[in-house]
Amino acid sequence: MKPLERRVLDALPATVFAVDLDGRITLLNRSPSRFGQQDGAPPLPGGGAAIGASIWETIGDAGVKDQVRQALATLSEGRAPTASWEFDVGSAGAGRTLLVQASVLEDSRALVGYVFVVSDTTTRHKESDMPARHGHKRRSEAIGDVSAGVAQELRSPLFGISSAAQLLRFRVKDDPIVEKNVGRILREVERLNSVVAALLEYGRPTPLQLQPGDPDVVWDGVLEKQRGSMESRVLHLDRARAEPPVSCSIDAQQLAEVFLNVLGNAVDAAPEGGKLSLKSSLAPDGTWHCRLHNDGPAIPTDVLPRVFELFFSTKGATGIGLSLSRRIVEGHGGTLSLESTPAQGTAATIVLPPA
Ligand SMILES: Nc1ncnc2c1ncn2[C@@H]1O[C@H](COP(=O)(O)OP(=O)(O)OP(=O)(O)O)[C@@H](O)[C@H]1O
Ligand SMILES: [Mg+2]
Repeated sequence: MKPLERRVLDALPATVFAVDLDGRITLLNRSPSRFGQQDGAPPLPGGGAAIGASIWETIGDAGVKDQVRQALATLSEGRAPTASWEFDVGSAGAGRTLLVQASVLEDSRALVGYVFVVSDTTTRHKESDMPARHGHKRRSEAIGDVSAGVAQELRSPLFGISSAAQLLRFRVKDDPIVEKNVGRILREVERLNSVVAALLEYGRPTPLQLQPGDPDVVWDGVLEKQRGSMESRVLHLDRARAEPPVSCSIDAQQLAEVFLNVLGNAVDAAPEGGKLSLKSSLAPDGTWHCRLHNDGPAIPTDVLPRVFELFFSTKGATGIGLSLSRRIVEGHGGTLSLESTPAQGTAATIVLPPA
């Protein structure tokens, strides 16, 4: 009977091997004859691996050899504690994607070699290629990380630009040209600051705090605040509330942001003097439905599928409103959709489940 460590190593659905500083294989978790079989352990590139064999002779592929060399250089120079990369083996379609992770092997803090773990990530890739929910989730998480990263990077330089512009305004008084341009700089900085805030919110969303509440009451607050923007465009609002009032599990603050976004879009799109209609109702299954409709030209059919994309905007805005709103509504277990036809104008529909 082999020792437990050996059995654990052999049971792993990955190929594990160690090499010494000369690149000689010192440990291998499966007998070489089993490599490449459909038993979960991915093949070693080139095959023919055996204890004592040189890794440089074992790996046939020049590209893989090169990547191993680079990884070992990174590890031996201490530039990173681990190195990993992926590569494809086999023919396209029938091929597999292997992930190699390498780390240093130390003995009393002295470098004695390297450990490699090769795992098969083919199925994971197939999942992320599918437009299925997990793939979608992983993609949006990645976008979220990038958004938060970019926002963090922009914060300090924006602060620097705004401080420098204010100093300039203070030092060069009574020069209308300087004053006008400093004003423009500060306005742009303010606009970028709101983009940064939206990016941060997108990248690191505030967790929802759900409590029973009536979404129509949330609408009341939003409409009250936006009365000025509707009046300035001479828009007439026709409103109907759900009867009897509905109780849903809501985060009133984040839901208000959603309503503000969809209302902002409708106000922007409606022609001056046009009509908005906001109708909420209680469906027989207990869900709350709300439809905000605006007049105006329909969204072109090639644009409509893109409106929920992050950073997609046809009005030179940030293009974050609908993607953020959809995420919040879906966090409530609801849906947010947009329909647009030349005959019927554009309508945003929000559905929320009962509390
Ligand atoms: N009610 C609407 N009528 C017509 N077009 C709309 C409507 N709502 C959204 N759109 C279209 O969808 C695009 C994306 O909307 P979204 O709210 O995500 O971004 P935005 O309004 O452009 O920018 P932001 O909301 O970040 O200020 C808009 O630029 C517009 O083209
Ligand atoms: Mg918007």
